[in-house]
Amino acid sequence: GTTLGSAASGTGRYFGTAVSASKLSDSVYTGILSREFSMITPENEMKIDATEPSQNQFSYGNADRIVAQATSQGARMRGHTLAWHSQQPGWMQSMEGSALRSAMLNHVTQVATHYRGKIYAWDVVNEAFADGSSGARRDSNLQRTGNDWIEAAFRAARAADANAKLCYNDYNTDDWNQAKTQAVYRMVQDFKSRGVPIDCVGFQSHFNSNSPVPSNYRTTLQNFTDLGVDVQITELDIEGSGSAQADKFRTVTNACLAVARCTGITVWGIRDTDSWRASATPLLFDGNGQKKAAYTAVLDALNGG
Ligand code: G3I
Repeated sequence: GTTLGSAASGTGRYFGTAVSASKLSDSVYTGILSREFSMITPENEMKIDATEPSQNQFSYGNADRIVAQATSQGARMRGHTLAWHSQQPGWMQSMEGSALRSAMLNHVTQVATHYRGKIYAWDVVNEAFADGSSGARRDSNLQRTGNDWIEAAFRAARAADANAKLCYNDYNTDDWNQAKTQAVYRMVQDFKSRGVPIDCVGFQSHFNSNSPVPSNYRTTLQNFTDLGVDVQITELDIEGSGSAQADKFRTVTNACLAVARCTGITVWGIRDTDSWRASATPLLFDGNGQKKAAYTAVLDALNGG
């Protein structure tokens, strides 16, 4: 293949990017987007604060514009995200207990229903585990509604959309030997054993010098798929430049390609200047939209080189 999407397609996978609705009027941006990418994740537009700014009043305009772009270029969509401790609207931040539990489940039901039939995979729950050595859940208003909030969200999502793949998504879960990785693994194992509807696990994979690509990354991906779920690399970006950065992108791409149920890779933005951490220059295109060495490394890896 001569593009990321077509090369990934040759391996039975997709290649995606995060997209911001506010950039869809930038023709350099949309030119690269429609040429290279076969999956789209809204960077912010499907989050809780965007889709339910006032309780039970839903707002889908920006997210729908991204879905329309995906349709027009023949790309699929990853929904991000139905339940999360962050980017909650003010009304939800101030809720707790059974009222919050009901509001969260209503949110999951309404949004998953609105997008039923249009979503390849949903990040049903995002970032629910703590960093560090505890292996514990992250404290949040959602966690304080009871430890079963995650499975309740997955069951509500399945009831609303029987065909979307339902994923758990997190960061710092790439190193097999980390407590957080082990904790997520045990949750997925538990969900599979009890019939909680989970289909996939997303590895955000935001890498930098403090959290480099671990040497056991491929093992981590493989071990999760051995539980009977798909995995995806969902928010890939790698701090750096030149051939060192390109080598890391190649390693990550090859890790996914080596795992049969790693179904695709998404980078968290198009140009370095589009990144949430632009100073890290962590993406595949420079600020002018030119292909970087990292782009060529990924394309070559996808093409089997
Ligand atoms: O759109 C408003 C604008 O109107 C306002 O004037 C401005 C003032 O702060 O804020 C703008 O919203 C910002 C939004 O990005 C759009 O640019 C928010 O403040 C800012 O918090 C938000 O950051 C996003 C961040 O998630 C929030 O948690 C990043 O774009 C987005 O890349 C980032 O993505 C997350 C994933 O969802 C989950 N995994 C980690 C990843 C990186 O942090």
